[in-house]
Amino acid sequence: MATPGPTQVPQEILLAGAQEMIHHRSRQMEDIINEINRELPDLFLTKQDIYILLSSGTGAMEAAVSNSFNRGDKVLVVSNGYFGERFTDICTVFGLEVITVSSPWGTSVNIEEVERAYKQHPDIKGVLTVYSETSTGAVNDVKVIGSLFRDTEVLVIVDAISGLISHELSMDDWGLDIVLAASHKGFMMPPGLAFVAIS
Ligand SMILES: Cc1ncc(COP(=O)(O)O)c(C=O)c1O
Repeated sequence: MATPGPTQVPQEILLAGAQEMIHHRSRQMEDIINEINRELPDLFLTKQDIYILLSSGTGAMEAAVSNSFNRGDKVLVVSNGYFGERFTDICTVFGLEVITVSSPWGTSVNIEEVERAYKQHPDIKGVLTVYSETSTGAVNDVKVIGSLFRDTEVLVIVDAISGLISHELSMDDWGLDIVLAASHKGFMMPPGLAFVAIS
């Protein structure tokens, strides 16, 4: 199968998974969860809480869409590849009206087109885009997209599933409202955990 991930998992992490099982309601587990909750925000450069989902990355995309909008809301999907198109599919399934700004696979989205689309559709409730479009490696300038919508009510939702850790990302400084990540890319862990940071 042609797929860009999961990334290789270092031996150290694989062996950690082979240790004695921990009771999921024990104090030991509570301490681990607390430590993770304390440290995760640093990776997103945010002061906000991070929610951990037992899902793949797509589960985080679906959670972001289904919890942020109501049926009939208008959103702008900024898309330049396979995972941008997945955002369009998910938004459509949840009954949102989707406006799309897209650029050819392999290129980054033109920010002027995003500005133009917002002028034409000032009633959008959210902008959804992929930071590092894993299908081609093209990176979108989510810092500038964040700054465009910083003083508005429009939610900026970024799929950083392959972008987090691999590229610089500063959620709070860049004005990003929801940032999504998953365990099997920059974290170099097995798949099965997704992370949702919410402003
Ligand atoms: C940018 C991006 N978004 C979403 C996904 C979907 O993640 P998953 O396959 O874990 O559902 C991937 C996986 O490759 C991805 O790279």
